[in-house]
Amino acid sequence: MSNPLTSSRPLPFEQGPPRFDVGLAPIELQDWLMPDDQALWVGPKNELMDAESDAVFASITGSMPGQIEAAELVSSACGNSFDPGEPPLFAASRLVSDDLVLMEMRDGAWTNTALCLCSPTFFSAHDAIGKSLFGLHRPVPGGDPGLGGRISRVFSLLRDELVLERHNWTVQWSDARYTPDGTPLRQAARVAGLVEAKDALHVRVERQTIRRLPETGAVLFTIRIRLYKLADLLAEQTLAATFQQAWQEASPDVRAYKKWESLERHVAALLEDYAANP
Ligand code: HEM
Repeated sequence: MSNPLTSSRPLPFEQGPPRFDVGLAPIELQDWLMPDDQALWVGPKNELMDAESDAVFASITGSMPGQIEAAELVSSACGNSFDPGEPPLFAASRLVSDDLVLMEMRDGAWTNTALCLCSPTFFSAHDAIGKSLFGLHRPVPGGDPGLGGRISRVFSLLRDELVLERHNWTVQWSDARYTPDGTPLRQAARVAGLVEAKDALHVRVERQTIRRLPETGAVLFTIRIRLYKLADLLAEQTLAATFQQAWQEASPDVRAYKKWESLERHVAALLEDYAANP
């Protein structure tokens, strides 16, 4: 029997531990941004954008044609118009739960020329702006030049109307979406008692897509965050088993990169609870 949680919302730990690979697959054009199953985030996201516009948005000179083309595509995908008084990528980002990242060829490298980043998995718009795919992936084991080069080749080979999708996952303390820095979450986990794990531990799934913009030749990278309370997932026996396996099989370099150390005792306690009371 198909599981409604997993069939409609991919849980990438079902495919095993996180890996530092490209892992992109084509999806139907009409599935690009709609339906927006995280539309509940659009309201709080807009409040964040009003309060912290300088922190969540950045752009560099020359990005305007790409921003306009990206905004028009997002606007037509979701059937809502964007405010012409704001930077186009920022304005389009108000319409969807997804973060929008514009990548353009600069000096021979795919470079981040504009982005609106409200659900960052532990980096900020100002960390990313102006960086190439190599620089962006420097902190990832094998990221520069290995992974950065492989992603660059995919970007350069994208055809119009082809949308590619991938998912990654991690575990975090709390259900926060706006997390430019993971340190406060890890500190909270470090000092928390094990009883708090049931409410605090969340699986953070990131759905990413890339799409070529036909006019400017830019690539639009989108990021949608889904958060699942780990305790709810573990309440389902099959998911509990696949999560446990993926968590335990994650290699030391993955654990170190994801900075899971502060979560280990909490996850272990929850897994033990569910093993004792399936
Ligand atoms: C679709 C093509 C891309 C692929 C396959 C890819 C792949 C990866 C992988 C494997 C990681 C390690 C974490 C994980 O996913 O498990 C990562 C991290 C990251 N990626 Fe990408 N990426 C892509 C595009 C981009 C783009 C366009 C940006 C531009 C903002 C970006 C920014 C980052 C950042 C900032 C990190 C975290 C690095 C850190 O730990 O500080 N990625 N990416």
